[in-house]
Order: sequence, then structure tokens, then C-alpha cells
Amino acid sequence: MQALVNETEKMLAMLKGNDLRDAALIASAQKVEHYEIAAYGTAAALAGQLGLRDDQLLLHESLEEEKWADAVLTRLAKGEVNQDALAA
Ligand SMILES: [Fe+2]
Repeated sequence: MQALVNETEKMLAMLKGNDLRDAALIASAQKVEHYEIAAYGTAAALAGQLGLRDDQLLLHESLEEEKWADAVLTRLAKGEVNQDALAA
């Protein structure tokens, strides 16, 4: 996770203009969401295999929240932000 934050800081320092930075921030946020999706998905699967149903359900809820956040970011990027960045 720290590596993702460091990468974002480097990328933002290289980009000029708010439109490009907005697109880069969304891309970085989606990397974090994907990282979280992998982590919660794996943990939920392991909990299920260990028979820890309550834990599995909680982890699955978190997994779904991360997927929802990723979908919101995708809508933002595709709806406006990426087009503004391409026009910049
Ligand atoms: Fe998240």
C-alpha cells in the first residue's frame, strides 16, 4: 500500500494541470481499490475454507464495498474526468 502511495506522489509531481491530476488520482485510487479487492477476496475465501462463516460474511461485505467504490471511480473516470484529461 505504501508503494502505491509513493507511486501516486511521484506521478502527481510529474503531471501538469488539474485535469490530468484528476485522472491520475482516480487511476491511483482504483489501484488501491483493486489491492483491497484482492486482499478481502482472499481473506473471505480463507475464512470460508476454515468454516468461519461470520468472518467470511463480514469480509465479503467489505469486498462488496470495495467493488462498489471501484465502480463509482470507473463511472467518474469514463463519464467526464478522462475526457477532460485527454483534452488538456
Ligand atoms: Fe477502498
